[in-house]
Amino acid sequence: MERAEDAGVYKLTDDLAIIQTIDFFTPIVDDPYSFGQIAAANALSDVYAMGGKPLTAMNIVCFPVKTMDISILKKIMAGGVDKVHEAGVILVGGHSIEDPELKYGFSITGTIHPTKVVLNIGAKVGDRLILTKPLGTGIISTALKDKMVDEGTVTRAIKSMVTLNAKASELMQEVGVHACTDVTGFGFLGHASEMIERTDVGMLIRSAAVPFFPETKMLAEKGFLPGGLHRNREFRLNMVEIAKEVPDYLADILFDPQTSGGLLISVSEPKAPLLLKRMHQEGIKEAAIIGEIVAQPRGKIIVS
Ligand code: CO
Ligand code: CO
Repeated sequence: MERAEDAGVYKLTDDLAIIQTIDFFTPIVDDPYSFGQIAAANALSDVYAMGGKPLTAMNIVCFPVKTMDISILKKIMAGGVDKVHEAGVILVGGHSIEDPELKYGFSITGTIHPTKVVLNIGAKVGDRLILTKPLGTGIISTALKDKMVDEGTVTRAIKSMVTLNAKASELMQEVGVHACTDVTGFGFLGHASEMIERTDVGMLIRSAAVPFFPETKMLAEKGFLPGGLHRNREFRLNMVEIAKEVPDYLADILFDPQTSGGLLISVSEPKAPLLLKRMHQEGIKEAAIIGEIVAQPRGKIIVS
C-alpha cells in the first residue's frame, strides 16, 4: 500500500497468489452498453497490468432508480457482463444501492504465480518504454459533455476503451519485462511518475512518439480539459520537466486522465523491438516506444 501498485497481491501458496482490485465511476459516454463494457475493461486492466489472469468479477451498482429507467441499468450490465465473459471471467455476484448519481464498476479477482508479478517499479537503466493505447479519452469525454466532438472520434475512443489489455499483458509476460502499470486517472505522466518515484532511475519521454487521438489536439486547444488534468499536473510539478519545445496541447494530453487506458511497460532494450513487433502482429497497432529509463536525473521525468 505504501507504493501505488495497480492491485493487491496475496500469496496463498508458493506457486499461487491472488490479485484483487476494484474500480467504479460515473458514465463517461452516452451509450449505456458501451459504458458497461468500458467499466469492465477498466476494472480488469489492473490485473492485466500486473501480468495476472482475471478469474471472477463482482458488480458494483449505484443507480437512481426513482429518476432513471431501469432498462438503462439493464443495458449497462449487459455491456459489463459481455466484456467480463470476453475476458474469460465469471460474474459471481455484486451489490447495488440507490444513489442519486449513477455509478458502475467491478471488483475483480485474478491469479498469478508469485514470482511472475509485474510491479510498477523495477525499471532498469537502458529500458525502453512501450505505451499500448493512444491518449486523450478524458479530453474527448469532456468535450462530449458539451456535444463538441464528432461521432467518429467518440466511436474510436470507445473502441479503444472497450479493448481489453489482455493480449498486451500476455505478450509482456511471454517476452519478459521489468515493470508495468496501466494508464488511468492520473494520466500518462502521473502513472509514469509512479514507476520511478523514490527509485534510483529517471525517465526520458519523447513526446513526439506518444500516440494520442488526433482530434484531442484541437479539443485541448479549445479548452476541453477535464478538472483532473490540472490536478494531475499540479501533483507532479516537482517530478516532471517539460521542454519548452513541447506544444501546450501535447503537455495537456500527457496529463489527461484516462479511462481504460493502455499499459505502460518498461522492457530491456534488446527485447523491446520483439515485444513491439509481437504487439503489432496481434492487432495492438498503436503500441509505440515512447521513451527510456535513464540514470540521471533520478526520480525525475524529462519530456522532450
Ligand atoms: Co492501475
Ligand atoms: Co484502478
